[in-house]
Amino acid sequence: MRTIIPFHDNWQFLKPGSAPVPVTLPHTWNAIDGQDGGNDYWRGTAVYTKAFAKPELSDGERCFIEFPGAAMTAEVFLNGRSLARHEGGYSAFRADLTEALENENLLTVSLDNSANDRVYPQMADFTFYGGLYRGAKLILVPAEHFELVKDGSPGIKITPVTDPVRKEALITLETWQNGGSEVQFEIRTEEGSLIAKAAVENGRASVSVTLENVRLWDGVDDPYLYAATAKLLKDGVVLDEISSRFGCRSFRIDPEKGFFLNGRSYPLRGVSRHQDRIGLGNALSMKEHKEDMEVVRELGANTLRLAHYQHAQEFYDLCDEYGVIVWAEIPYITKHMTNGKQNALDQLRELITQCYNHPSIVCWGLSNEISASSPVTEELLSDHRELNALAKSMDKTRPTVMAHAFMLEKDSPLIPIADLASYNLYFGWYLGELEQNDEFFDEYHRMFPDRVIGFSEYGADANTAFHSARPEQGDYSEEYQCLYHEHILKCIEARPYLWATHVWNLFDFAADGRDEGGKRGQNQKGLVEFDHKTKKDAFYLYKAAWSKEAFVHLCGRRFVDRAEAETEIKVYSNCESVTLYLDGKEFETKSADKVFIFKVPISGRHEIKAVSGNLAEEMTIRRVENVNPAYLFGGAGNVVNWFDKIEVNPAFYSIKDKFGALMANSGTAAIVGRIMAKASASRGEVAQSAGENKALKQMMAGLSFESLLKKAGANVIPPEQIKAINDMLQKVKKEE
Ligand code: GCU
Repeated sequence: MRTIIPFHDNWQFLKPGSAPVPVTLPHTWNAIDGQDGGNDYWRGTAVYTKAFAKPELSDGERCFIEFPGAAMTAEVFLNGRSLARHEGGYSAFRADLTEALENENLLTVSLDNSANDRVYPQMADFTFYGGLYRGAKLILVPAEHFELVKDGSPGIKITPVTDPVRKEALITLETWQNGGSEVQFEIRTEEGSLIAKAAVENGRASVSVTLENVRLWDGVDDPYLYAATAKLLKDGVVLDEISSRFGCRSFRIDPEKGFFLNGRSYPLRGVSRHQDRIGLGNALSMKEHKEDMEVVRELGANTLRLAHYQHAQEFYDLCDEYGVIVWAEIPYITKHMTNGKQNALDQLRELITQCYNHPSIVCWGLSNEISASSPVTEELLSDHRELNALAKSMDKTRPTVMAHAFMLEKDSPLIPIADLASYNLYFGWYLGELEQNDEFFDEYHRMFPDRVIGFSEYGADANTAFHSARPEQGDYSEEYQCLYHEHILKCIEARPYLWATHVWNLFDFAADGRDEGGKRGQNQKGLVEFDHKTKKDAFYLYKAAWSKEAFVHLCGRRFVDRAEAETEIKVYSNCESVTLYLDGKEFETKSADKVFIFKVPISGRHEIKAVSGNLAEEMTIRRVENVNPAYLFGGAGNVVNWFDKIEVNPAFYSIKDKFGALMANSGTAAIVGRIMAKASASRGEVAQSAGENKALKQMMAGLSFESLLKKAGANVIPPEQIKAINDMLQKVKKEE
């Protein structure tokens, strides 16, 4: 039998130029500098070492080390001897230490997260933390044991094929091993155990059994899990034993009606999650994973896009347990690399090998916005065809998918390579108008009515410090984020053909290259702040749409100072009607669908209370003369109003002209190009490189320069600079 020994304690961490420090795993060396902005977090080769005594090994036993996550490229040495090398920071790998073991040992792991041209990710809007951030363990096994090394395999692959009507499932169980003569499989059901045996042939054993009266893995309603064990025997003696859970479900995706689970319509409506948290980096423990899952459950999401890489097994396990359907993916992202093909194939093979048994996973994501900073060349297409073929060869039960950048042409040859397609759209945030999201999907669906399409990303940044009674795109206020999501939620609810929709993002997360919205180093599109605790108002809009738990939520709790005589009080709730009380007196009762809006006259300090049945929430607001400057992104002087003061002579160029026209004139192009470069720099390297994207440039050409400046935000281009820009443009006469 096997013995697992946790290997988290008494490590030494050594960064070049620094003294070694004692650390406990999980650990990342970018927990602080990877989240504080500046795009300057330390990337390079660091070393972890651990001295340990040889574990007791009975005759022939072997000793393996397992790293569930070692970012980004690892080389493992024992007593100075190189034993393994692994490229890719998000999948598990193991190494056999046995031959190099002494009585006293020194384990050394050299880890590198520096930039290169062959290990994904290299360009993306998140921090590429370095470190042994998912811990480590020793695994002691008999000489003859189930597979441990190949692609970090769990050793067992379970394929249920389920008929939800007949409540029957054909379960194929396969194992790989380096010895033994027979494998005894056991499935524990509610009625008892089902046993089946198979001979080992060429290192593999396989058996298929039928489960009658199967209990379905039925999403969030009944995520029932079976447990299977496999025992490796020789001459009747059990050598090794492994186990895995699995779920019996069937699903299909209809281009017109969306996702079906176990024969019933089951629209996938949820969010994305990155694996990091303020102060911890990506060195999360089970505590943080469980806390994140509790937030998902409170929201009522029934799906998660676990972007942009393989997440921890513990989190996929939680998705299995709570019935949350998962989009899993590899970090083939933003920029295609000629030398990256093998690594993309390796990461996909390891993702599928290591995550195959999770019933929560329904698709394999091949790439994310890969056209954002790369032309769609034959090489890029060919690499995607190879990835798709690999996934189909490893898994006959799940479709492949890609998340496309909003500037990718709808008829691009890239799209049909995968089984499914979804788009990341940011109209109404980065550029354009909210209605363009609706128009985009309707146009795509009209062009390709037989293709499945989804909404893989959408979002708007919000800092809970910023508020406005006149919310505007780009003001980073909670109020604009609410308006944005109210529109998109209606867009989604009106389009059942969207097979899956995922808010970007459930949580704010680290993107060290960002410096916007008043927080350096963070992408603030989260419905919850980076502490994974502070829920923004928009969180409750989706809770009202998806959660079965009755509640009322008063929006604007942090928007205390109101500079108007009549203020809007917004309530999100999944109750039929809500009554608002003003200073203890009943003010008004409204019925609505999720969003309840009250217009309330204010004159001083007021107690506001929202009630529905026995549910209630209270807050205090007060009337003030002037807008509280602390509520304004970019400080005093609301940029939006500021633009209205700009006078222009229409015979000369100005910020009111379209970006395309200004770029077409040599006199104005230099001025405008420089400003846009500065604006995109505040969004990190992805935005900068995406700015070169031809399709994006075409899209921006039609927008007024004024709208692009508003979007850039006051902290990047302050109001006085806008006036100076306009003065410069006004010196350039338009051609007759
Ligand atoms: C892209 C990308 C995300 C990124 C997001 C954003 O769609 O896929 O990784 O964080 O845009 O700009 O917020």
